[in-house]
Amino acid sequence: MAKSIFGIIGLGVMGRSLAKNIIHKGFTLSVYNRITPKEKYVVSDFLKKVNNNNIQGFLNLKDFVSSLTQPRKILLMVKSGTVVDTVIDQLKPLLAPGDIIIDGGNSHYQDTQRRVKALEKEQLHFLGVGISGGEEGALKGPSIMAGGSSEQYELVQPIFEAIAAKDKNGDACAAFLGTDGCGHFVKTIHNGIEYAEMQLLAECYSLLSSKYSYPEISEIFSTWNEGALNSYLLSITSKILIKKEGEDYLLDKVLDQAGNKGTGSWSSQTAFQLGVPASMINAAVTARYISALKEKRAQLSKGISKNETGSSINVSTLKKAYTFARIINHHQGFEIIRAVAKANQWNINFSELARIWTQGCIIKSQFMESLVDVFKSEQSILENADFFSQLEQFESSVAQTLQYSLLNRIPMSCFSNSYSYFVSMTTDRLSANLIQAQRDEFGAHTYQRADQPNQSFTSKWTVNE
Ligand code: 6PG
Repeated sequence: MAKSIFGIIGLGVMGRSLAKNIIHKGFTLSVYNRITPKEKYVVSDFLKKVNNNNIQGFLNLKDFVSSLTQPRKILLMVKSGTVVDTVIDQLKPLLAPGDIIIDGGNSHYQDTQRRVKALEKEQLHFLGVGISGGEEGALKGPSIMAGGSSEQYELVQPIFEAIAAKDKNGDACAAFLGTDGCGHFVKTIHNGIEYAEMQLLAECYSLLSSKYSYPEISEIFSTWNEGALNSYLLSITSKILIKKEGEDYLLDKVLDQAGNKGTGSWSSQTAFQLGVPASMINAAVTARYISALKEKRAQLSKGISKNETGSSINVSTLKKAYTFARIINHHQGFEIIRAVAKANQWNINFSELARIWTQGCIIKSQFMESLVDVFKSEQSILENADFFSQLEQFESSVAQTLQYSLLNRIPMSCFSNSYSYFVSMTTDRLSANLIQAQRDEFGAHTYQRADQPNQSFTSKWTVNE
């Protein structure tokens, strides 16, 4: 059989969907999956199912590698972490100089940086590529965020652009964003924004559930979805709410305990490392951790009574608060990207990044669509006059929403963090003068004065001289 121009290792959900997408676009493809007792028939079953002449499957890595045209282009769709290193080690002796390994998983960008360097020494290339859109996106058109070397990217660009989602102008939602770990880093922050977007919807659901039925909340969300708030996550949430199992809503049977695979906390860790406020992502990650403490929560909740205040929720107030919080969430996410890009000398085009997030990915939305233009003229979301004026206008709606949530014991930490962030960022004089004084008192860390700039002072704060 003729050689294939592209290879995929790993036929999990994402690998299988991408493989189908690639052959449906007319490219020739070789696939390989490890053989374990559980995965013995993965390749043969898949070949039977797709029944397509563009694809050949292998159970032997050497044969798989030999079936590819050179330079070989091999996409790894395996679990991120040590598995990626194991597969690279297995592949290395079989490859030739110039071959390209592409990691399509949710890898940590610093792992990708390490792998790029290590493989360079062996004259092999490594592209770290974030792929978003879940199973359906992978099959019908994902958003593809590539990092590595632009020359190597050019060799896979026609395939990536053919399989990617298309934006409103018909251009592929695939782009080369920067060197080494840039693609994986950007995908991590995509997920961080995704975490906070999901948490905001969970908080809206929680608040609305105190007064409205699931079909009513679903209706509220789908009405919001018809306008500027339109997003993939809002759309699926409005459908999830009314999914029934027999007479009951399926959602009521789902355990209130959410897991995670790490990209949310990586976003927060990275933001903390560089001193970037990412309070909404932090809150969303923390909310998942708290949700996981189910047993403890059940135990501590005994005997706690809910103060029903009788005050009501105004849906249009919540809508404004949600609009406000989403602006802050995106602002914080893009600011982490700005700081990390600077530290790594990645020249990321924000407008282009927003563009490839308008379709295919989990955070695609009408808001993202507007960011494509905003970033053509403005550096940051808060610099945009329209968004800033929405924040000013809707601030009181967030306050009212939070007031209701506090009086009714409904945790809304993501909303609350969006509010504190905006209020703090628009307050000239914060309370950090006291923090300076405390640090100086117990640790002689010195402090700066507003009336005598660029000098350090120290005082005996607790002694009256
Ligand atoms: C995507 C998703 C995808 C996955 C995340 C979820 O862009 O397609 O983000 O990558 O759903 O890994 O992460 P958690 O399992 O941590 O929620």
